[in-house]
Amino acid sequence: MKHLLRLADLPITEINRILDCAQAAKTGIYDDSETKRIVANLFFEPSTRTQYSFNTAELKLGCKVINFNAASSSLQKGETFYDTVKTFESFGIDAVVIRDRKDRYYLDLIDRIHIPILNGGDGKMDHPTQSLLDLLTIREEFNHFDGLKIAIVGDIAHSRVAHTNIEVMQRLGMQCYISGPEEYQDAQYDSIDFDQAVETMDVIMLLRVQHERHDQAMSISVEHYHQQYGLTMERVAKMKPHAIILHPAPFNRGVEIADDVVECEKSRIFKQINNGVYVRMAVLKRAWESD
Ligand code: NCD
Repeated sequence: MKHLLRLADLPITEINRILDCAQAAKTGIYDDSETKRIVANLFFEPSTRTQYSFNTAELKLGCKVINFNAASSSLQKGETFYDTVKTFESFGIDAVVIRDRKDRYYLDLIDRIHIPILNGGDGKMDHPTQSLLDLLTIREEFNHFDGLKIAIVGDIAHSRVAHTNIEVMQRLGMQCYISGPEEYQDAQYDSIDFDQAVETMDVIMLLRVQHERHDQAMSISVEHYHQQYGLTMERVAKMKPHAIILHPAPFNRGVEIADDVVECEKSRIFKQINNGVYVRMAVLKRAWESD
C-alpha cells in the first residue's frame, strides 16, 4: 500500500508515472473493476472540488464510496480526529482520503493507521492532488516543464497549493515567482511585480485570499485588491500569446479574477477541474500497489 502525503516525498520519476497514468485514464484506458474496494472521504474542512472529484474518481474505478459528514458525526460529541479515522479503518475500509486544517495531520496517523491515506489537503502545508492536476494541465499545454515560467499570485503565505507547487515545479525545472499583496508574501520565494508577471510568464496561477486562515482582516479593500492584483481582460490582453491562466478554485469573481476572465480563451480553470478526476484515479490505483 502507498500513502500520498506530500509530493516532496516522491521522486520526479514517480510524479511523471502518476501523470502518465492520469493521462491514460483521460483517454479512456482504465480499470473500473475495483468493485470490492470501499473508500471513505473524510473531509474535516469544507471542500467541493477535491472531495467530489475524489468521489467521481472512486466511482469511475468501480469503488464504493462513503462521504463522511463531519457536522453530523461524533466529532460533535468530543470524539478525536484520530479516533474518527481509526473507526473507519476498523470498518474495513480500503483507503481514506483526508483533509484537515491541521498542518501535517497525518503525522498523528501514519504509524497507527494501516490503510492508505490520501492527503486531500493539510492546513497550509500540502495539497498533492491539486498540484498533480496543475502539472497535468501544464504538461498537456506545453508538453514539457523545463524552463517554463510561472507566477503564483495572491495569498501565498496561507496556501498549501502554492507551497506544494513551488517545491515540485522547481524540481521539474520551472522558474517560479510569487506576486500579490505584501502581507501575503513569503520571503523564501522570488517575487515579481504583478504587471510584469502578466507580460512575461507562461503560466499565471491565481489564488483566493484565504480569509478563514487569517488572524486579522485584509488590510486593503476588495476594490484595491482587484485593481492592483486582479486579473482583468485588460491584463489578459498583455499576456504572451501561448500563456495560460490557472486557479485551483474556489475563485472569488471581482477580487483576484474578473468575471469575464474565468472562462476566457486563456483560462484552463475548468480543464484543471476535469484533470483532477484523472489524477485522483491514478493516485487511488497507486495506493493499492504493493511497496
Ligand atoms: C484549494 C484548497 O482547498 O487548498 N482549493 C482546492 O482544493 N481546489 C484552494 C482554496 O481553498 O483557496
